[in-house]
Amino acid sequence: MNTEAFAEKETAFRYDFTSLIDRSGKDALATEGPAVGFGPSLPEAPYDFIPMWVADMNFPTAPSIVREIRERAAHPLFGYFLASDAYYEAIFRWQERHGVSGLTKSNIGYQNGVLGGVASLLKVYTQPGEKILMHSPAYIGFSHVLADLGRQAELSPLKKDENGIWRMDYDDMERRLKEEKIHFAILCSPHNPTGRVWTKDELSAAMALFEKYDCIVASDEIWSDLVLPGHVHVPTQSVGEDAKNRTVAFYSPSKGFNLSGLWSSYHIVYNKTIRDRLERQGACTQYNNLNVLSMHATVGAYSAEGAAWLSELLKVIQTNVDYVCDFVRRELPGVAVSRPESTYLVFLSCDAYVRHSGRSMDEILAACWRVGVGLQDGRPFYEPCGLRMNLALPFSRVREAMKRLKEEVFL
Ligand SMILES: Cc1ncc(COP(=O)(O)O)c(C=O)c1O
Repeated sequence: MNTEAFAEKETAFRYDFTSLIDRSGKDALATEGPAVGFGPSLPEAPYDFIPMWVADMNFPTAPSIVREIRERAAHPLFGYFLASDAYYEAIFRWQERHGVSGLTKSNIGYQNGVLGGVASLLKVYTQPGEKILMHSPAYIGFSHVLADLGRQAELSPLKKDENGIWRMDYDDMERRLKEEKIHFAILCSPHNPTGRVWTKDELSAAMALFEKYDCIVASDEIWSDLVLPGHVHVPTQSVGEDAKNRTVAFYSPSKGFNLSGLWSSYHIVYNKTIRDRLERQGACTQYNNLNVLSMHATVGAYSAEGAAWLSELLKVIQTNVDYVCDFVRRELPGVAVSRPESTYLVFLSCDAYVRHSGRSMDEILAACWRVGVGLQDGRPFYEPCGLRMNLALPFSRVREAMKRLKEEVFL
């Protein structure tokens, strides 16, 4: 779709995805981070900063969330509280969107961050030094958690097929599970940073291996709200009875609704033993407690208005993704991109560009940041020539970033 067509379409939207919101002075890591050392360089004049690195959005969230928080905040008592029925019911209703029914309160538990939940599960079921299977490229947070806990990542590389679609390599996974005697896997579904939405068949094949080698599975489904039109999120636990019993799924409205600063994650677990041990581990930290405003934010997100807002957001992201993928293929020789099926992240592979330009990834990344295009370094995701680009910004900013990349960086 051309830019003009996009602008026309935008006017039909009920929610605001075009205003450039000034986040300065509002504690935003995305925009204040560069000044305190995040990123390789600061933007140089005349460029302003376009935050396309850390995974949060430059859109105001759904009005229903702000309303819920305001209404609760208007009651000026913030003592100890109980998780409300409305909170659980909102989660049950929301999960029905993924075809999940029959959940009860006992299946749900708060987690102070999805990574916190993954860390707790790791602590219960693995020992320091143990190898954990995950795919590469991999979300940087998993690597940090494993390093912090003294566990080791055993990486099974995803491979691009002839159509440029990232695929799991089941033979490679099996070899590693067997040779390294692995009994814990982290599955990212949908997958950050490739944006793959695993199909039921793909998940079933992976889960068959995890059953064969008796692995506990941490299924990080934090991106499941941001599945782009034409794709369907399949909860890992839904692929079969065994999968249901060996998997803990982690969710949060934080990605879909831009609530990362509210810490509102939760797990779904069916197996009672895993549940009890996971919850005990979380309780032992003394920190794993739901926050009353996060609870209300979740209710506001998982509502009819939240769903309406999200469906508009997905159209905006799809437009940005289409624009960037077409632009990269047309205008940035040597840079490859595979179209994400979910998330608002596009992962660029600069291998050919690095080879023919003779420039290093350090130089390229610094050049991006100097012209204000704050991209995320792909190296900590185990991609030596990768760049991750966050497209959760108004289209005008995305267009401006691509112009700068073409005219000032990928020369
Ligand atoms: C796949 C994945 N898991 C977890 C997180 C972090 O979640 P939390 O902030 O709830 O720990 C992110 C953040 O980008 C992510 O992409």
